[in-house]
Amino acid sequence: MRIDGKTQLVGVIGWPVEHSLSPAMHNAAFEARGLNWCYVPLPVAPGQEEAAIRGLAALGFRGVNITVPHKQSVLRVLDTIAPEAAAIGAVNTILITREPDGRPLLHGYNTDAQGFVGALRREGFEPRGKQVVVVGAGGAARAVVRGLLEAGAGRITVLNRTLERARRLTSELQDSRLEARELTPELLVRVASEAELLVNTTTVGMWPHVQASIWPVAVPVPSHLTVFDLVYNPLETLLLRQAQECGARTIDGLGMLVEQGALAFEIWTGQPAPTAVMRAACEQWLHRA
Ligand code: ATR
Repeated sequence: MRIDGKTQLVGVIGWPVEHSLSPAMHNAAFEARGLNWCYVPLPVAPGQEEAAIRGLAALGFRGVNITVPHKQSVLRVLDTIAPEAAAIGAVNTILITREPDGRPLLHGYNTDAQGFVGALRREGFEPRGKQVVVVGAGGAARAVVRGLLEAGAGRITVLNRTLERARRLTSELQDSRLEARELTPELLVRVASEAELLVNTTTVGMWPHVQASIWPVAVPVPSHLTVFDLVYNPLETLLLRQAQECGARTIDGLGMLVEQGALAFEIWTGQPAPTAVMRAACEQWLHRA
């Protein structure tokens, strides 16, 4: 990578960010497109995000990704908020433009919901009219549910360990297709048997707890089900192995990561993103880690 006086800068703000795959993914994409751009990890402590973003704007950054724990708090520094980000109540991508007098303008987007649906469609699953089970009720679940609603999914059951959180999510998104229930193995198996798509948005199965799964060990996964696990470390989680062994279709967590990154790339550069290159860069990073 060449850095010179014309290099355009973007990055990711989070706390922590050292495990982020985004620098590897975006820098590979810039190189593949022959763009003199550079993507840097930017650790920003809670409470410092507003100062950091204003500083990046003053420094001429073209944009920035926002990750945990700043996705909600950055809403207040923005000049414009895309409808998707407003609906989810969180921003993961900021585009910085400039007024004729040089004053920066901050535009907030959320590419997670569209990224999730893009990953589903890329794997040949059309969510329209489909019955879905979403496990978890955190920020990732919110984006997934919003994406599914927008894409015309049928009934969506949100199962969460803490019922109150699932209820909050479904009441905030307000749609008659949504139902909140407490996560139990029995209920999961029952609702999954009637659904076509199961999405794990929880951290269950993530390294180092690779022997954990939301799905009970003794029960076969219905083979008609498509199972999407948002966890990408490891890429093949126990849940996905359980599904594969029963002949169910699986989609791993890099699908959504790459698609949301591709949308951010397009917002910043105005060019189509090289998604295959981005996925390969993530895989290489994961194998090296
Ligand atoms: P994110 O913003 O990435 O979605 P989060 O807001 O911390 O992360 O949400 C994590 C989700 O994983 C929550 O739904 C959490 O359930 P609770 O709301 O009950 O905390 C879920 N989760 C984490 N560990 C879990 C476990 N061992 N069993 C079941 N659910 C778990």
